[in-house]
Order: sequence, then structure tokens, then C-alpha cells
Amino acid sequence: MKDAFGLPQSLLVLGGTSEIALATARRLIARRTRTVWLAGRPSPGLDRAAEHLRGLGAEVRTVAFDALAPATHEGALGKVFAEGDVDMVLLAFGTLGDQAHDERDPAAAVRVAQTNYTGAVSSGLVCAGALQAQGHGSLVVLSSVAGERARRANFIYGSSKAGLDAFAQGLGDALYGTGVHVMVVRPGFVRTRMTASLPEAPLATTPEAVAAAVELGLRRRAETVWVPGALRVVMSALRHLPRAVFRRLPV
Ligand SMILES: NC(=O)c1ccc[n+]([C@@H]2O[C@H](COP(=O)([O-])OP(=O)(O)OC[C@H]3O[C@@H](n4cnc5c(N)ncnc54)[C@H](OP(=O)(O)O)[C@@H]3O)[C@@H](O)[C@H]2O)c1
Repeated sequence: MKDAFGLPQSLLVLGGTSEIALATARRLIARRTRTVWLAGRPSPGLDRAAEHLRGLGAEVRTVAFDALAPATHEGALGKVFAEGDVDMVLLAFGTLGDQAHDERDPAAAVRVAQTNYTGAVSSGLVCAGALQAQGHGSLVVLSSVAGERARRANFIYGSSKAGLDAFAQGLGDALYGTGVHVMVVRPGFVRTRMTASLPEAPLATTPEAVAAAVELGLRRRAETVWVPGALRVVMSALRHLPRAVFRRLPV
């Protein structure tokens, strides 16, 4: 069960090698999280992540999970919930793709959309159902500011995040009053391996800052979290710019 401050004792991460997810897990383990499930594609990286968190004192298990194989989600994630209550699910998997390449390779673009959107619809619904059956828990979804308004430079990724964001908001409304809380997290540019090859954007932040914002959001039982917080105002302005102006911005 969560403590009086809304922090989880048990955590399930979907996308178990995500740098943002692992920074969040480290932070929560330092508070009171004792059990962690890392769901992800089997790899030495996933095993290393589990070993690292074990070293911090948590009981950590891994489970094979592929966002691109929705038919397997019920079985893989059902196994986790069958082992005991999960206080928090962190939906952290995602892929940026390569916009220039993917515009010329529709199958690759579809993989971005299927990973970030339909993979999340499927696994999100499986987890939401399990949390609802428990009667408590938080589903924390890593969306992105990229979903707020599609940009020329990354509209394939951005549109998948827009779908994910809308899905998570609707799911949060559907679960309102059930004891299950859905929190949508919208980071801007975060310095991780996902963005390592990109020029740094204004207001760039770190996985640790996202982790701190997630903790604060859980304590407040927030529905939406921007990281950094200033992006809420920036995006509100950008969202309302006329297309002809927005198109010319160097974003
Ligand atoms: N970095 C940013 O600037 C930023 C900004 C806003 C939002 N976000 C979002 O935050 C989340 C975490 O990103 P991050 O920065 O921590 O990136 P990351 O370290 O590259 O993590 C991405 C994760 O997604 C997993 N993944 C990719 N495809 C998968 C699939 N088919 N099935 C299962 N797992 C899959 C990866 O697993 P493998 O180890 O198997 O590849 C990895 O665990 C993503 O949803 C991302 O879109 C990131």
C-alpha cells in the first residue's frame, strides 16, 4: 500500500531500462519502495538495471514485455499483479524514431506509433484493470511536450505522444473516484540516451529532475505534471500560435 504521503511500496516499470524510469525508481527506493518489477525486452541492460536497484536494497524482478506485442500484455503483466499488489505503474517505454528516415519508411514510422501509442493503449488498459481490481494505485504515464503541438521536426513521435496523452487523460477520467489515480507527466527535453544525438533544447532537464517532479506529483495526487514546470506556460502560448507563425519557429 502507499504511505500517507502517496508514495508506493511496490512499483512496476514498463520500459525497465528507461533512464527516466530508473532515476524515478532510485528516488522512490530511497523513500519507501521495497518491491520493483522491471518489465522490458530481455537484454543485458535490463539485467544490469535490476542488479543496480537490488544494490539499493529493493527486491527486484524482471518480466519480459514488448510494447509491440500487445497480444502478450495481458499474460505478462497479469503475472506481475498475480504475485501481489502494485502501488504504482510507471509507463516509461517509448521510442523517438528517426524522423527524416521514418518519413521515407512508413513501416518504421508505424513502429514508432505502435510502440508509443497502441503499445501504451494495450498495456495501459491491462494495468488499469488490474489496479482497479485492487482498488488502489497510480498509473504514471510519461507523455511529452512533443504531444502538445506537432512540430515539423518530429511530428511522427509527437503525434504518437499526442495520442498517448489523450488516452491517458481519458483513462484518468474513467478511473476517477475508483481509488486509481492516473498522472500524465509531460517532460520537455531530458538528457538521456534517447536525446543524446540531438542538439539540446531550451529548458533541458535531467532524469533526476523528472523523478523529483513525479514524487511531488504523487504526493499531491496531481493529474498533470510538467517538467520543468515553466513549460506549462510556454506550451500554453505555443499551442495558440497561428500555424503560419508556428511553422516558421526554429523548434
Ligand atoms: N528523453 C526525453 O527528452 C524525453 C522527453 C519527454 C518524454 N520522454 C519519454 O520518457 C520515456 C522514457 O524515455 P527515456 O528518456 O528514459 O529514454 P530511454 O532511456 O531511451 O528509454 C526508453 C525505454 O523504452 C523501451 N522500449 C522501446 N521500445 C520498446 C518496446 N517495443 N517494448 C518495450 N520497451 C521498449 C526501451 O527498452 P530497450 O532497453 O529494450 O530499448 C527503454 O527502456 C519515453 O516514453 C520517452 O518518450 C523522454
